[in-house]
Amino acid sequence: MIRIATLRDVPELAQIHLQALKGEFLVRLGDEFLQTLYRDFLLQKQTIIYLMEENEIEGFIFGSLDFPVLLRAVLSSRFFRYLLLVAKQGLRSPRLIVEGASTLLFSFLSEAQSTKAELAVIAVKQEQQRRNIGSQLLKVFEASLKKQGIDFYQVSCTQANRKANHFYRKHSFEKSGEFSLYFKRWNRYVKHL
Ligand SMILES: CC(C)(COP(=O)(O)OP(=O)(O)OC[C@H]1O[C@@H](n2cnc3c(N)ncnc32)[C@H](O)[C@@H]1OP(=O)(O)O)[C@@H](O)C(=O)NCCC(=O)NCCS
Repeated sequence: MIRIATLRDVPELAQIHLQALKGEFLVRLGDEFLQTLYRDFLLQKQTIIYLMEENEIEGFIFGSLDFPVLLRAVLSSRFFRYLLLVAKQGLRSPRLIVEGASTLLFSFLSEAQSTKAELAVIAVKQEQQRRNIGSQLLKVFEASLKKQGIDFYQVSCTQANRKANHFYRKHSFEKSGEFSLYFKRWNRYVKHL
């Protein structure tokens, strides 16, 4: 069953994110950071999070009608809390400080982009992958965008993420550009609904 996520789902969403996106910047910031972030996202009305639940939560999709505005709203609502969490982890890995600063710069620059609707994260538990869960979540997410008058949206993933690049191409996304972030090359895809 696919349903809208609530605040009670936050610990599980963070766990799935940690497991499915190992090594990625937000994951290296740890569970506490991710839980804080998802809780804050869920408190904003522009946030869309659907999850697939059978006996347990198997995966989720998260995006927004206006992602740059959402990100700015969340980061500025508790700027010092986020700064503290990044600084705490940054003592162990100074590279995280640079990546944190890149996120701020990136969110500032993306304000200027014309495509505001965005799929920010899709993650399915490793043992549940390739069972069509991601595709079903995407379908519901797109239906929700369409219902709210959106007919064009974007998503980005690292060029090294083979599964995600296959997944987006299979679902008719078209590559619209590339960029560098967190010391990696990324592909940006767009899709007309
Ligand atoms: C990307 C992801 C969400 C896809 O979810 P899923 O439930 O496994 O996807 P589906 O079963 O609906 O698969 C659909 C398509 O995805 C692609 N895909 C999924 N797993 C793949 C794999 N291991 N290798 C290559 N392609 C894969 C294929 O194109 C597949 O179509 P096919 O089976 O006809 O070849 C999932 O692999 C995942 O959670 N990955 C880790 C998190 C991540 O990287 N998210 C994207 C960046 S935010």
